Amino acid sequence: MGSLLVDNIGELVTNDGRGGDPLGLRRDAAVLVEDGQVAWVGPARYAPAADRRIDVGGAAVLPGFVDSHAHLVFAGDRAAEFAARMAGEPYTGGGIRTTVGATRAASDDELRATVGRLRAEMLRQGTTTVEIKSGYGLTVADEARSLRIAAEFTEDTTFLGAHVVPAEYADRPDDYVGLVCGPMLAAAAPYARWIDVFCERGAFDVDHARAILACGQAVGLGVRLHANQLGPGPGVRLAVELGAASVDHCTHLSDADVDALAGSETVATLLPGAEFSTRSPYPDARRLLDAGVTVALATDCNPGSSYTTSMPFCVALAVREMRMTPAEAVWAATAGGAAALRRADVGRLTPGSRADLVVLDAPTHLHLAYRPGVPLIRQVLHNGVPR
Ligand code: NIG
Ligand code: FE
Repeated sequence: MGSLLVDNIGELVTNDGRGGDPLGLRRDAAVLVEDGQVAWVGPARYAPAADRRIDVGGAAVLPGFVDSHAHLVFAGDRAAEFAARMAGEPYTGGGIRTTVGATRAASDDELRATVGRLRAEMLRQGTTTVEIKSGYGLTVADEARSLRIAAEFTEDTTFLGAHVVPAEYADRPDDYVGLVCGPMLAAAAPYARWIDVFCERGAFDVDHARAILACGQAVGLGVRLHANQLGPGPGVRLAVELGAASVDHCTHLSDADVDALAGSETVATLLPGAEFSTRSPYPDARRLLDAGVTVALATDCNPGSSYTTSMPFCVALAVREMRMTPAEAVWAATAGGAAALRRADVGRLTPGSRADLVVLDAPTHLHLAYRPGVPLIRQVLHNGVPR
């Protein structure tokens, strides 16, 4: 493949964790890429020779976004449900069953085409790592095939058989939990790295969630959890209790929840696209950050509560609506996402990391929030390959 020098970078976000600056900013920098990895980072004037060179003309460069929460395996859309919400209907998660019906009826190739289309959309907007959940199949065969298809696109696949109790089990949720922990988990686990549960009123209560996550842990899956999205509850504390890599949404938190997160290794992943698309109050990122909690940002891309693939949009929302600084939001969308997936190889640009980087049509990362809705992603390198 040969070496590639990304040269004449006006502002480089390294996320190298050194010094007081969380983004590890470097001015007038260059990055040398070899074999899909970052081989060297330093001042442009000391850049080593390389087989090829991209001159970015003083633009800002940052690590590719790490979108640690996405539901891409589904069929159909729910645009009419969105329109009804904008006319005043509340969001309850009840529409998930509509998507389950459409997903079960779809062919493998239809599902694969949707994941491919959304993955390509993400890449164009600078996302180089994505987590993909199942959760719209809710039968043994449909969850297994959802994960099999997801695994064609990412290493970070998540079994979400406990998204909602499907209609055919509505009057016997305990039986459904038994199915999830038994044959469904057995069929899903070969294609999954993570297990997740929607722990919320109307979905799964804390005892069901604990039981399901424990079954997943027992077969070697890492834990993540949807919690405290629609109201307060014990989900966040359950995530901390189980040593979850991440607890996602975190919209309604008590002081005890914030304290538990602050004393833990569990990342709080905030999904402002969901609050935007359900016209709900945003989570208070400032409160979490000031308490010392590690915060990630992700899209939650799904056809119901957040049909966006755009991490730049989420960064802008986080800054404008959740009181994050632009630097905190960019960190959360890159290094934060990597922490939420417990990955050390992405979300940073340091020697040895994967050469996933984004060239902005802008001189600084500040423009991601300052110029909302503008296509600022000029070029993306994924595994060192220009896309
Ligand atoms: O993360 N909260 C649960 N699951 C998704 C929404 C799914 C849907 O409405 O289809 C979420 O927001
Ligand atoms: Fe979600």
